[in-house]
Order: sequence, then structure tokens, then C-alpha cells
Amino acid sequence: MLLTYRILEQIAKTEFSDIVKNATLIGGKSAQPNKLRVFLIDGSFLDFWLSEENDYSFHWEQRAVRGLIHRWDNAPDHPEVESFPHLEFKKNNPETQILALDNLKRRGSELNLPRLKQNGIEFIHGDIRNREDLESAGKADLIIECSAEPSVMAGYNSSPEYLINTNLLGTVNCLEYARKRDADVVFLSTSRVYPMRTINNLDFIETSTRFELSEEQSIPGASSKGFTEDFPLHGPRTLYGATKLASELILQEYIEMYGIRGVINRCGLLTGSWQMGKVDQIIQEISGWIKENSEQLRPILT
Ligand SMILES: NC(=O)c1ccc[n+]([C@@H]2O[C@H](COP(=O)([O-])OP(=O)(O)OC[C@H]3O[C@@H](n4cnc5c(N)ncnc54)[C@H](O)[C@@H]3O)[C@@H](O)[C@H]2O)c1
Repeated sequence: MLLTYRILEQIAKTEFSDIVKNATLIGGKSAQPNKLRVFLIDGSFLDFWLSEENDYSFHWEQRAVRGLIHRWDNAPDHPEVESFPHLEFKKNNPETQILALDNLKRRGSELNLPRLKQNGIEFIHGDIRNREDLESAGKADLIIECSAEPSVMAGYNSSPEYLINTNLLGTVNCLEYARKRDADVVFLSTSRVYPMRTINNLDFIETSTRFELSEEQSIPGASSKGFTEDFPLHGPRTLYGATKLASELILQEYIEMYGIRGVINRCGLLTGSWQMGKVDQIIQEISGWIKENSEQLRPILT
């Protein structure tokens, strides 16, 4: 926890130095602070809190400067930030019927249900591990398979069963659903399919805030821009990455054998408002939130 606070403190001070005056760890004992306080240049401050249960919240205290207070408990109340993909898609394609099937395993995801309803998106409470649940969804032209146990830490010190049953067998159920209905498939895979040891052995440059990939690399498919599909896939990658890579292979066979159309997207980082991130995603999520909202934050703060 202390390390996560320290990394966030460093990011606040270095990457947002134009709006951050200072950042410090507060509360608890000095070896175990329970908040990161970020002082903004307008005199307001943000408190970030991480819980032992893997949740987080933040609190933007602006009372001294503009009589406002803003809290975010794993779910921002910023309706003006439209980063929720189903909603964006529906807004741009009002005639399209969208149905979201989710077992609401991700704590807090039920808070999104009223927003789906308001935007004309039907919701089915269902589990992709269960074929009958998928059958109840009826007909579809396109499936976006984005349900998952998305934590790269899943299976460490715990059973991998949920991870494998959802991320691999659940994906196979979705592919069967697509095959029977002749539906197209977009599969959200991950950059975690690339093996860890090969990544760790790449050539990095140490900069003031991070390690960056050097332009010249001896491994094919790697450069300062990241990785391409030519990056070697041999070696361990975590069970999360393995279930995604196995799903990719099966989807490719479905495309070849059954002629369904499919897209595999090896996403690097997906973040945004209304995502109920866990502590292992918080660094990306909070820095992502600040970046996403920096256009709105800067005029308020300066
Ligand atoms: N967040 C990232 O940075 C990132 C990066 C690369 C790939 N991805 C992939 O993108 C997709 C979305 O990731 P996210 O970070 O938004 O995760 P998320 O946990 O917010 O969303 C996953 C959803 O799947 C649901 N779910 C879990 N198990 C299910 C099951 N058995 N049946 C039905 N629904 C189930 C959860 O309730 C949750 O709403 C995942 O496939 C993930 O692997 C995410």
C-alpha cells in the first residue's frame, strides 16, 4: 500500500506539476499512512484513500476556494465525462439495439445499471460461464466480448478457477453463441499476452520518472513505441495473459473453420469514468482520470 501511495505521489508531483503544488502522505502511522494529499495550485486539495479491501476513493476539497466538495468512491459523479463505451456507441448509433450481459461480479458495476437504462440499453443479469444465460440473450449481429476477470494478479495466492472458467471457457461459450447465430465478434484481449521475461530483458532508458523503452531493440516487434504482433510469444505471461492468448487462438480457429468475422484487440490500458477499478489498477485509473479531465480541471484551477 505504501508503495502505491508513493508512486501516486511521484506521478502527481512530476506529471502534473503544472496544476499540482505539492503532494504528501498523511494519516495513520508514518510507516503506514492512509491518505495521499495532493495540493493543487488554486488552494484546493485532493485526498486519495486506498482500502485494505482493494477499494479506493478520492475527495476533492474545494470548500475554502469555491465552496464545493467532490467525492468519488470508485464511481465518479461526473456525467459530463462520456467515456463509457456502450453509452458513446448508443449516442452515435441511436437505431442500434444494445444489450449488455454481465454477472455484476465487479463490485460497484451495478451502479452503472441506471445509466444503461437511461440510454436505452437493455441489461441481462447473466454469466458467460453458463450457456443458458447466453441463450437468453436471443439474437445478435455483433458480440463485444469484454467480460473478464481482468486482473493480472488473479490466481496469485488464490485459486485460478474463476479466471480460467470465465476468461477461457466463458469466451468459448461466447464463440459458440456467435457461431450458432452467425454473429461477428470483437474480442478484448490484452498486451499481457506478451511474456514477462522477454519484456524485462528489453533495453530500457532510465528517465527522471520512469523506465522507457529504447528505440533500438534486439527483440523483433519491440521499439520505443511499444510492441507489435511480431513480438515473440514464447515464455510465461501470467495465467491472465495465458487465458487471453488461448482465447485468441480459439477465436482464430473459429474464424478459419466457421467463417465468422472477428477482431482481436490487444488493449494496453482501458480506463475511464465509471470503471470500478481495483487498487492494482488505481495508478492508471487516477492518472487516467486526471489526464482525461485535465481540460476541465485546468481552467478551474488556473
Ligand atoms: N482495464 C484495462 O486496462 C484492460 C487492458 C487490457 C484488456 N482489458 C480487457 O478489457 C475487458 C474489460 O476490462 P475492464 O478493466 O473494464 O474490467 P471490468 O472488471 O471493469 O469489466 C469486466 C466486466 O465483466 C463482468 N464479468 C466478470 N466475470 C463475468 C462472467 N463470468 N460473466 C459475465 N460477466 C462477467 C464484470 O462484472 C465486469 O462488469 C476485459 O476483457 C479485460 O481483460 C482491460
